Amino acid sequence: MFFNKQNPFTFDILPELFVGYRNELRELSSAIQRGDKFCLITAPSGYGKTAMMKFLSKQKPFENGQRWRTLYLPRPPSRPEEWVGVFRRVVWFLGSHLYDLPTKLNRKLKEPCLMLVDEVHEAQPDCLGWLRVISEHVENISIVLAAMPEFEPPQSIKNRITTHIKLNGLGRTETGELIKRRLELSRNRLSFNQEAIDVIHVQSRGCPREILKLCAQIVHKATEMGITTVDLALLREMGYMNVWTLSEKQKVILALLAERAGLTPTELLSLFNPGYKDTGNGIRALNNILKRLLARGLIERQKIGKAYKYVVRGELRFLFEQTIANPMPNGNI
Ligand SMILES: Nc1ncnc2c1ncn2[C@@H]1O[C@H](COP(=O)(O)OP(=O)(O)O)[C@@H](O)[C@H]1O
Ligand SMILES: [Mg+2]
Repeated sequence: MFFNKQNPFTFDILPELFVGYRNELRELSSAIQRGDKFCLITAPSGYGKTAMMKFLSKQKPFENGQRWRTLYLPRPPSRPEEWVGVFRRVVWFLGSHLYDLPTKLNRKLKEPCLMLVDEVHEAQPDCLGWLRVISEHVENISIVLAAMPEFEPPQSIKNRITTHIKLNGLGRTETGELIKRRLELSRNRLSFNQEAIDVIHVQSRGCPREILKLCAQIVHKATEMGITTVDLALLREMGYMNVWTLSEKQKVILALLAERAGLTPTELLSLFNPGYKDTGNGIRALNNILKRLLARGLIERQKIGKAYKYVVRGELRFLFEQTIANPMPNGNI
């Protein structure tokens, strides 16, 4: 059982630690209930593909309580013949020939079977080819594949993927939930205030593995300093907010955006023009600054008619309002 009071933020994958991705889970569960043959989960490393598969394998997808079998493979087999051995884990007496496998499975698999294959981007094409053949001849089987975003399934499988889920990271609330759940389960008394959670959320871009990494360092530091509540002061002290080092222009722009409900580059230019040569030049310069702030996840944009309005990400507004009130030396927030 997961229990680590010193560091609740280990990389253990346990279903009870799973948070968020509710819509994605719902979509997958209904695909499995419908008996869809192939679903695909893609996301960069650390976004929770494996965690989601393990969580899914512990869920009961059938409302009528029907029994079903799950088979989680951490990676696809390296040779097609190995599929026989894989399926022997759910059904005995399958013989040893790959060519007999679909018929035998169809005869012997009494309960629906959910097969979850992780790291599918590493699969050999003929291995996946056989998986498709098996899925086609066996009635009772649903297959969920997980892969890196670059994965291009072979055409024959691509045509059969009915549900493709992309994991884009946890939201602000779920980031807080992940942290809270971990602390509770490990009976660690430390707490994180909302501002600290917001900074961690932005910094990690909602990537669960990044959240865990950041939190592990924070817990270590907090314990060392005898702190019981993680707040902005601690994160500043740890230098986390230095990565957001801002130029004077960026600070003014963020402050202007934080004060208002959103501005287009033209509106920004009318409020802030540190001597740009002409309007065209000014807009180009502002667009470059905005692009950089967007890439750092500090602001968002919304399309309004033909123009874009830029806003400071809601949960971060307090940071920049503070910046205006007490600008930090050397450009740090
Ligand atoms: N939805 C989630 N809720 C809680 N923890 C998660 C979630 N998704 C991932 N994690 C945690 O983040 C880490 C990375 O997730 P993992 O599933 O290994 O990512 P991937 O397989 O996409 O590389 C794991 O330690 C896992 O426990
Ligand atoms: Mg994984």
